[in-house]
Amino acid sequence: MKVIGISGSPRKDGNTEILVKEALKPFYEKGWEVTEFFLSSKSIKPCIGCETCNETGTCAIEGDDMGFLISELENCDALIIGSPAYYRNVTAQLKALFDRSFVIKNRNLLAGKPGGAIAVGRGEGGGQSLVLSIIHNFYLSSGALCVPCEINGLSARADKPGDILKQEKRLRQARVLGENIIKYSEMICRS
Ligand SMILES: Cc1cc2nc3c(=O)[nH]c(=O)nc-3n(C[C@H](O)[C@H](O)[C@H](O)COP(=O)(O)O)c2cc1C
Repeated sequence: MKVIGISGSPRKDGNTEILVKEALKPFYEKGWEVTEFFLSSKSIKPCIGCETCNETGTCAIEGDDMGFLISELENCDALIIGSPAYYRNVTAQLKALFDRSFVIKNRNLLAGKPGGAIAVGRGEGGGQSLVLSIIHNFYLSSGALCVPCEINGLSARADKPGDILKQEKRLRQARVLGENIIKYSEMICRS
């Protein structure tokens, strides 16, 4: 079994990467194959609206990490996506990834695959719930399933890189999110 963990933060070792890594721990423990796809070190160019994908099923943009990502999405059994709140939205880097995924919309690569969402912002009510909705909307638009953490997706409040390491409750909730995705995957496999 294989999971892909995507972080939308441009900041390496920031709070989102820490939480995504924490959510991936249960997968390592269960022997899953894990891919960390962190946009702090990957390049996804924005969609240019040429609509080539609508005509040919392939994207006209070359020279970035989208080809690798598509093969990972095709081969994964589950996903985790996290993003900081940027202006009460996902980051531009993650939005570019969502837009570029238009190329796979007719191939149902994510259909029935369970996915979890993580949002981090400095503010209380800083847009984390919107970020969770936007990630869940990506899942639903792609035919993937939204897996809850303790209640919704994981919403966290942190600012400086590493702030989240002081919040054991949020780190534990990240692991719960990972464990829930594994449970959903096992239910899907049994059915
Ligand atoms: C351009 C920009 C916009 C931001 N907008 C928001 C926001 O709307 N709401 C919020 O709570 N925090 C906002 N923040 C703070 C980040 O979400 C916060 O620092 C977060 O911990 C960054 O995550 P990271 O460490 O994974 O990069 C913003 C930060 C930047 C740089």
